[in-house]
Amino acid sequence: MFAKLFKNSVGRKLIMAATGLGMIGFVVMHLLGNFSIFLGPEGINVYAARLQSLGPLLWVARLGILAMAAFHITFGIWLTLENRRAKPEAYAVRKRQASTFGSETMIYSGLLLLTFVVFHLLHFTLRVIFPETSNLIDSAGRADVFTMVTESFRKFPVVVIYLAAMAVLFFHVGHGFKSLVQTIGLNNDKTLPLFGKASPLLALVLVLGYISIPMLILFGLVKG
Ligand code: HEM
Repeated sequence: MFAKLFKNSVGRKLIMAATGLGMIGFVVMHLLGNFSIFLGPEGINVYAARLQSLGPLLWVARLGILAMAAFHITFGIWLTLENRRAKPEAYAVRKRQASTFGSETMIYSGLLLLTFVVFHLLHFTLRVIFPETSNLIDSAGRADVFTMVTESFRKFPVVVIYLAAMAVLFFHVGHGFKSLVQTIGLNNDKTLPLFGKASPLLALVLVLGYISIPMLILFGLVKG
């Protein structure tokens, strides 16, 4: 069954769509969890401790996300190379039917997001970027995620990196969601314009949510 999916380009697109949807699901859940920072240390430190207390279940979830990312990236590169081979450059007139900046740059926005996620894992999961404020313990003996995040986003260059990454996320999800809906066959003449609008709207809501965290911290509006 899996081998069949791998063998034809429709199957490969379905794998891209399913893993893309799974990762959008993660990005939505992660944002909702991150909003607990607005409740102060009692919000995000408790939330992070609850996640850690899941133990093996947390590792199952992490491996699931890692596997989805690995498939999504591998098949994304594969499909891009396949499309490039199928479309020789030497057209007399290059048609740009219904293509947008987001759709034309999916491979680049995807690879930039991968770079961001590597940086982000070093920053907040492995905590090696600002170790002096990232490995503290709060008064209740929990990892002090609140201090780690707020101290990071008081640094202007860090905020700039996150804002740039969120702009990239906007273009990737803005086209990706529309594209996956099409791949799983939910598009028809009626729904096409609807998803055409819903996709950038979803990306915008996500990005504004994520951006609110570093911005409100930078402007001193998140207090412990
Ligand atoms: C303002 C934006 C963000 C903040 C404040 C934030 C915060 C965090 C924190 C605090 C952790 C560590 C959790 C812990 O170990 O207790 C984390 C992990 C992670 N974040 Fe983010 N994040 C942001 C944006 C993103 C985005 C946009 C993505 C994906 C594109 C992402 C993907 C991840 C992943 C994959 C992990 C690892 C999860 C794990 O260790 O189980 N984050 N983030």
